[in-house]
Amino acid sequence: MQTERNKPDELTEAQARAQSSLLRQQIDEHNYRYYVLADPTVSDQQYDQLLRQLEELEGQFPGLVDDYSPTQRVGAKVADGFVSVKHDVPMLSLANAFSEAEVSQWYQRIQNQLDRESVEVITEPKLDGLAISLKYEAGHLIRAATRGDGMEGEDVTSNVRTIRAVPLILRNKQVPKSLEVRGEIFMTRSGFKKLNQALGREGQKLFVNPRNAASGSLRQLDPTITAERPLGFYAYGAVLEEGTFKTQQSIYQHLNELGFPINPNLQVVASLEGLVSAHHALANLRDGLDYDIDGVVYKVNQLDEQEELGFVSRAPRWALAHKFPAQEETTTLIDIEVQVGRTGALTPVARLQPVFVGGVTVTNATLHNIDEIHRKDVRPGDEVVVRRAGDVIPEVVRAINTEGKKRPPQWEMPSECPECGSQVEQIEGQAVARCTGGLVCPAQRKRALEHFVSRGAMDIEGLGTQVISQLVDQGLVNTPADLFRLTKESVLTLDRMGEKSAQNLLDAIDSSKHTQLPRLLFALGIREVGAVTAQSLARHFGTLEAIGQADIETLEEVPDVGSIMAHHIEAFFKEPHNQVVISDLLAAGVEYEPMEIDLGAERPLEGHTFVLTGRLSDLSRPEAKSRLEALGAKVSGSVSQKTTALIAGEDAGSKLQKASDLKVKILSEADLQALLDNPKPLDLE
Ligand code: IVH
Repeated sequence: MQTERNKPDELTEAQARAQSSLLRQQIDEHNYRYYVLADPTVSDQQYDQLLRQLEELEGQFPGLVDDYSPTQRVGAKVADGFVSVKHDVPMLSLANAFSEAEVSQWYQRIQNQLDRESVEVITEPKLDGLAISLKYEAGHLIRAATRGDGMEGEDVTSNVRTIRAVPLILRNKQVPKSLEVRGEIFMTRSGFKKLNQALGREGQKLFVNPRNAASGSLRQLDPTITAERPLGFYAYGAVLEEGTFKTQQSIYQHLNELGFPINPNLQVVASLEGLVSAHHALANLRDGLDYDIDGVVYKVNQLDEQEELGFVSRAPRWALAHKFPAQEETTTLIDIEVQVGRTGALTPVARLQPVFVGGVTVTNATLHNIDEIHRKDVRPGDEVVVRRAGDVIPEVVRAINTEGKKRPPQWEMPSECPECGSQVEQIEGQAVARCTGGLVCPAQRKRALEHFVSRGAMDIEGLGTQVISQLVDQGLVNTPADLFRLTKESVLTLDRMGEKSAQNLLDAIDSSKHTQLPRLLFALGIREVGAVTAQSLARHFGTLEAIGQADIETLEEVPDVGSIMAHHIEAFFKEPHNQVVISDLLAAGVEYEPMEIDLGAERPLEGHTFVLTGRLSDLSRPEAKSRLEALGAKVSGSVSQKTTALIAGEDAGSKLQKASDLKVKILSEADLQALLDNPKPLDLE
């Protein structure tokens, strides 16, 4: 493959440009053959040789270098950590199935909903890596972002650029003006082994599995490190102008032509039997692959059918992840400990002899509750089976080889809370045991504070578990109201708290004082009251005071509030301690915007479907969604004839186009606010 060339120093600028362009083309072509076609025609050495020639040429003629040269995959360090970026279209998750019965139910549901006997489904491996979004403009990679919480991820462009399976420039002559491709970044198994061996030799901490290694590699601030990591990539989706393609398969074909690797183990089937046999086939293939997979993803192939099926909460109805069975291992149960939750619920936790199961080392596993422990009859010292499926919390399944062994008596829940010594109450007929200490119990206080500051509640940044734990242990904070009385001197006494972070923390606490009633209500942590119920209560009563004074009957008038919840709410506000906390919070300056009360029609948006697109500035998307839903509206992921209105934030893309094509009403963020504040006057018909 060695081509005769003049020495760079004998070249004119124009000749050099022509040569570099040729070299770039050749390198890109070899990359494509290697990663996309899996059919290389040169050796690694020959490839490196071409790259070196290009480097040499660029050294001689620096004007030839730009960010998209194959020599420029490794860039400079990221200075201050990763910037967070909002996804234009949320990155959804997949519903899981663990058995053929669940798969059958899913297939039946789509058959029914589409009213078809046979629905085409594409089956593909569920790659066990991490999801990535790749944005291209005019055929050039301009941004790579992690999934994050699905709405917002981190900009990891400089690291993703080092992954050779990710094209920096698209191949096709007719590249789309803008394109977002989604797929999975993973580490090969062989590469993972080598990496851990090398880390071990250097006395560094090892990665537990290839997925964590891939994730750790992507989160390096120095892309030279990422560049050395054996990372791969497969594309599995794209955000496209609607109407361009008819099937998922044709999207893959198109992505392939643009230079994206698509997993070769795809199949299109059209029956339940087809799904099940694809699952068996991939399960058999699994051990022979050089990357981890943890199941099979089924996707309805026809895009108009996908559209018709739509979404439920954060996952499409048209796709399903059929996981491989959980993995099991045996180990020793060292002891059973008790954890205390926010509402005082005691959860027994197994401390285990570390065991490698399902790709990670497990040292703790849940035992659920006392009934489960007795049913399984597990006791400290037993040999036990531990099971782990995907990201599910590991659990102890059963004890083995207990016959003829000397064992301690059956394990019982302590009668006193291990954290505060208060009585433990076990209500007849209920599995859960609770500490009765309420806010006297430091563990409950800590959990309550963690909830109070969490994102959907008061959203105070900088108050992690460690900080809260110290604040409580040092007696600086007992109730949420105490947070607002913290001083710089006291905060500075905490471990690892410098001047700057102390100030940031106090500022964050201070600015959280101006909040909304639903947030404040949710933050109080009333049993069973989640964010959506808090929203309904706020809308129904308008003020915290009114909710506090409501009797059970009035509370039950609120949509979603049943009798058990109404009792919890009433009991919460009757409790003198809670009354003190609330008045202290208000005295400390916590305030919320008044809300319009709407008694008559709590679900004024019932029967209306909204679609959110683009970036909203005042509300987060989940917030906008749950507030619309609290008013009875449906929030869907795609625009159709049935859409009442599209809410378009900044940088809205193809959905905005589609809505205007279909003459669907388009609302701005300000319109949305107006609608939420007063859901009636807008003419939605
Ligand atoms: S499609 C709307 N296809 O699974 C569907 N996801 O639980 C979006 N994943 O975050 C995902 N292999 O990281 C899809 N062949 C595949 C996949 C796959 C792995 C991951 C992905 C996503 C998660 C969803």
